[in-house]
Amino acid sequence: MIKTYLEVAIDIAQEAGKVLREEMKQPLTIAYKGDFDLVTQADRRSEQVIVRRLQEHFPQHAVAAEEGTGQDTGSEYRWHVDPLDGTTNFAHRYPCFCVSMALAHGNELLVGVVYNPIYQELFAAARGEGATFNGQKIHCSGIDALKSSLLCTGFPNHQRQSLSNVYFYRDFTLRSHGVRRDGSAALDLACVAMGRFEGFWEFGLNPWDTAAGVVLVEEAGGKITDIRGQPYVLGGPSILASNALIHAEMVSVAAEVASRTITQ
Ligand code: IPD
Ligand code: CA
Ligand code: CA
Repeated sequence: MIKTYLEVAIDIAQEAGKVLREEMKQPLTIAYKGDFDLVTQADRRSEQVIVRRLQEHFPQHAVAAEEGTGQDTGSEYRWHVDPLDGTTNFAHRYPCFCVSMALAHGNELLVGVVYNPIYQELFAAARGEGATFNGQKIHCSGIDALKSSLLCTGFPNHQRQSLSNVYFYRDFTLRSHGVRRDGSAALDLACVAMGRFEGFWEFGLNPWDTAAGVVLVEEAGGKITDIRGQPYVLGGPSILASNALIHAEMVSVAAEVASRTITQ
């Protein structure tokens, strides 16, 4: 059954991706959910397609979709859907955004799909079956030292003033090859899964941002915890993803930054 879930998710993500490609050619319609938190017609149209098709295939399943059109059926099976991860990029026509979908059974994530419709990059993973990029098996990178690593992070669109991530950004930048800020958490995690980045961390992400990426990273041999190295809880305050080899080093740098930041 898990392979069927994955095949259906891939098919739906690609259809939603087509909508995003079409919307890229249309004039922008932006609304604001917060001071800097954008939503566009593309987010809404993509979600419409995904929710409708999930309901057709799996009417019993619950669907938690970012723009709020999902349904809570009370099922133990729950889809976490981000119809457009990277809305700010989309709104500026910067082609770094994706559709992100994952299925959880209780607390276990079963499948994850991340699709960048502009570059047509499809990342997919099913629990116990490995992770793929456009159909080819992928693995996290083999680099085992932070100083030779490329990292990524992100900054949420809400509560910007209370952000201490700039301190983490500074330290990790000084101790690695660099830290990218690409603006799509789901793609950032997918890039850890395929070895483009050795590590990624962020604060304040929602389940729909991370669920698919978590399956991808774990199935590609990487590690997921919170920033302190404790088990990651979907929707928890922080996430740290890595190729596993630099994980302990990242936890230790983060602990050092946190202790300094709190006493500042
Ligand atoms: C955002 C992106 C971004 C991250 C923000 C998220 P959205 O999602 O994943 O990379 O830094 O915290 O909210 O709003 O574009 O779906
Ligand atoms: Ca998102
Ligand atoms: Ca979104």
